[in-house]
Amino acid sequence: MKILILGSGGREHTFAYKIAQSPLTSKLFIAPGNAGTAQLGTNIEISVTDFEAIKDIVLQEQIEMIVVGPEDPLVRGIYDFFKSDEALKDIIVIGPSKEGAQLEGSKEYAKEFMERHQIPTAAYQSFTSDTVEDGKLFLESLKAPYVLKADGLAAGKGVLILNDIEEAKTELENMLTKQKFGKASEKVVIEEFLDGIELSVFVVTDGKNYKILPTAKDYKRIGEGDTGLNTGGMGAISPVPFADKEFLNKIEERIVKPTVKGLQEENIPYKGFIFIGLIKVGDDPKVIEYNVRMGDPETEVVLPRIQTDLVHIFKHIDKETLEQITLEIDDRTATTVMTVSGGYPEAYEKGKVITGLETIEESIVFHAGTKQDENAVITNGGRVIAITSLDEDYKKALKKSYQNIEKLHFDKMYYRKDLGFDL
Ligand code: AMP
Ligand code: GLY
Repeated sequence: MKILILGSGGREHTFAYKIAQSPLTSKLFIAPGNAGTAQLGTNIEISVTDFEAIKDIVLQEQIEMIVVGPEDPLVRGIYDFFKSDEALKDIIVIGPSKEGAQLEGSKEYAKEFMERHQIPTAAYQSFTSDTVEDGKLFLESLKAPYVLKADGLAAGKGVLILNDIEEAKTELENMLTKQKFGKASEKVVIEEFLDGIELSVFVVTDGKNYKILPTAKDYKRIGEGDTGLNTGGMGAISPVPFADKEFLNKIEERIVKPTVKGLQEENIPYKGFIFIGLIKVGDDPKVIEYNVRMGDPETEVVLPRIQTDLVHIFKHIDKETLEQITLEIDDRTATTVMTVSGGYPEAYEKGKVITGLETIEESIVFHAGTKQDENAVITNGGRVIAITSLDEDYKKALKKSYQNIEKLHFDKMYYRKDLGFDL
């Protein structure tokens, strides 16, 4: 089977790594890819949202399956684009329909979906520029901290958590009337603050059946001890040690089942991944967000633990026969540590030569923001290289990742040395 992966990060390199291992894969393409994916398949220099260019490549190369990495093309409707085109409609698309992708594309949509299907989440109300004053009154009815969320996609930056009521009111106004997050904050969801520890659960679904993948936890802040600015993710660990059987059972019964059933009842085509961000409040799971794709860097720890052929899983998703599969999961713990460019998540430089890649032993190198230059691999983004290791427990796995990172070098390289500090 000829397969195209859309995206260019560590997540997509990990997909490429698993898909390239499958005997069902005959040829692999990645658009646009990075220096890591170039070693496993053919990179194609097109944007993930240029559907016409994607169509041309798919027809020209007779691609039979596309695996969509990031949310942007999903929210813009790449699934529907394929399914409504006579020449493309039989191509397998791993990813939800445009409607399904609204679970990530609009916080309000996700909240209303959860309300309709009695899925536990924080209490909320949403506001627009016409109802700023109502929003301020609603804030006054809540206790600090105040959680303000831009309704639309804001590249992971659209959530503000504020302790001061006056600051919360000002920011609400900035979001609604001064377009703090552009169009994404034309509507704002204000919600109850949930106090607890976070984890993520990943599900694959064919729209009727589902399989729960390993749990993971990422480290979002740039600084040690979870301080400083939010990033795309500085590392991840799978499984999450505190997610025991009983807790996972609650997640399945109260959240996963009603989510998949809700999609089916509402006739929302959904053949792909659901990434459920959760907070454990006391002993109970509550949803903080849905994403309609895998996480990055969570993919770098979740997929290496899945022993079942990924392409085989995708074919069952397409045929809506996911119930026929038994997932084989590696019992070991996986950890990944992300190296980033100095300055990230604010301004940083690109084009730095990366050395030491060939010296990594007993860990897996996943490229994120990298590019193959004439005779070197160079940095090409904020997050650069993730080093994934597997071992009996997270401490041993992390030790391997950290030992290997010491052999890596690029100018102004930074990484967090404290992953797992909270476990
Ligand atoms: P989101 O983009 O919705 O995942 O929010 C980003 C981050 O904000 C989450 O990972 C949480 O750490 C935090 N967060 C979001 N919603 C809440 C909430 N209701 N209570 C507490 N923290 C939250
Ligand atoms: N690591 C968080 C995300 O992929 O959204």
